[in-house]
Amino acid sequence: MDHKTKITLRNVGRIFTGANGEKIEALRDVNLEIEDEFSADGRDVGEFRVLLGPSGCGKSTILRLIAGLDFPTSGEVLVNGVRVTGPGSDRGMVFQKYTSFAWLTVTGNIEYPLRIKGTPAAERREIVSRLIQAVGLAGFENAYPHTLSGGMQQRLAIARSLAVRPQVLLMDEPFGALDAQTRNDMQTLLLRIWDETAATVLFVTHDVAEAVYLADHLYIVGPRPGAIIEDIPVPFPRPRDQGVKELKEFQELEAHALARLRRAAGSGQVRVTI
Ligand SMILES: Nc1ncnc2c1ncn2[C@@H]1O[C@H](COP(=O)(O)OP(=O)(O)O)[C@@H](O)[C@H]1O
Ligand SMILES: [Mg+2]
Repeated sequence: MDHKTKITLRNVGRIFTGANGEKIEALRDVNLEIEDEFSADGRDVGEFRVLLGPSGCGKSTILRLIAGLDFPTSGEVLVNGVRVTGPGSDRGMVFQKYTSFAWLTVTGNIEYPLRIKGTPAAERREIVSRLIQAVGLAGFENAYPHTLSGGMQQRLAIARSLAVRPQVLLMDEPFGALDAQTRNDMQTLLLRIWDETAATVLFVTHDVAEAVYLADHLYIVGPRPGAIIEDIPVPFPRPRDQGVKELKEFQELEAHALARLRRAAGSGQVRVTI
């Protein structure tokens, strides 16, 4: 087994200053280490880690620190062993709010980060067409984002974030605005794409079932100040389909995660979908 540390958070704290000058301690002593694992035959298997916690516990702040959109007040954040000093194409980010460019078509949006990077046109076309197939947007190449459903817009955002093949994909409640059925479909689609990319995914949610379904490790984030209070390994084999949610073991793990969240100070707003 070969190991390489992809993401390290060491004693990370983040204190914000509120509108009235008050100090808001969003994170205290957050420690996290995500190692890139390889199978016995040398294949990069990728990691799928989920941060689960109530609203306001600091999940988005953790992602923003790794993305390089914000910086810690104490401790350090490393990606591939190097301290994060700003955003980079080694890290992609997908937000809950659809963030595609309204004036660009589906093709134009996915192609955009490749243009920035200077990828030659022929290669761009090939990557874009492969991603459009992978996320099921064939036939919508020339459509503008506002003409697409919420689920399709999120598929577009995922395709765009994958275009430059980031080693790390940061996803902040990306399916939070979708209806239940679309959300389930998107979870399964995401797992399928992730399996092919071998990227390290760090996915934020406050939905317990979503967290257990997606994760190979589930980090419970407790509030005030935010900290990772438990690391729960999720043993279900892959590929996983939605049927795994019906298993007794799945529901037991879900109940365990929920109980852990409830024991953490202040229960916040945790969505239960059993
Ligand atoms: N820019 C900011 N200025 C002041 N307070 C902030 C800022 N960003 C986040 N916070 C506060 O930090 C805490 C954690 O926020 P956040 O990371 O968004 O939580 P989550 O994503 O888990 O809902 C909250 O109390 C929030 O109000
Ligand atoms: Mg958030």
